[in-house]
Amino acid sequence: MERTLRKPGWARALVTGGSAGIGEALARALAARGTALVLVARRQEPLERLAAELHASHDLETEVLSADLTDKTDLAQVESRLEERQRPIDLLVNKRRQRD
Ligand SMILES: NC(=O)c1ccc[n+]([C@@H]2O[C@H](COP(=O)([O-])OP(=O)(O)OC[C@H]3O[C@@H](n4cnc5c(N)ncnc54)[C@H](OP(=O)(O)O)[C@@H]3O)[C@@H](O)[C@H]2O)c1
Repeated sequence: MERTLRKPGWARALVTGGSAGIGEALARALAARGTALVLVARRQEPLERLAAELHASHDLETEVLSADLTDKTDLAQVESRLEERQRPIDLLVNKRRQRD
């Protein structure tokens, strides 16, 4: 795993629960290795703060997507982003599972 993370084949990852806790740690690890990020969580402000920090410190593209994964409409937005072809996502880190 560590070897894979050092030289990732991923250009862009979508990380759910990506603004805090384990998701944030994974997002930081990916950013440090040059992977562009789409960060997903419910609250916009923490997402934007982290995205701006990682963009500035690693010179990579970051996007935020405010979505509650327990909400079907929000989940459909995340799925739609995953399917977008213009800025393709080649790694899904689904840290936040749907359970509550
Ligand atoms: N972090 C640690 O060091 C650690 C250590 C040992 C064990 N654990 C355990 O590991 C598990 C994961 O912990 P964690 O620290 O990563 O915290 P977490 O509460 O599982 O995840 C927090 C992240 O998920 C987002 N989130 C929460 N509900 C969401 C929803 N419905 N839809 C979309 N995003 C949502 C939060 O942002 P929003 O609130 O803005 O949505 C935040 O970005 C927990 O059971 C914890 O007890 C954690």
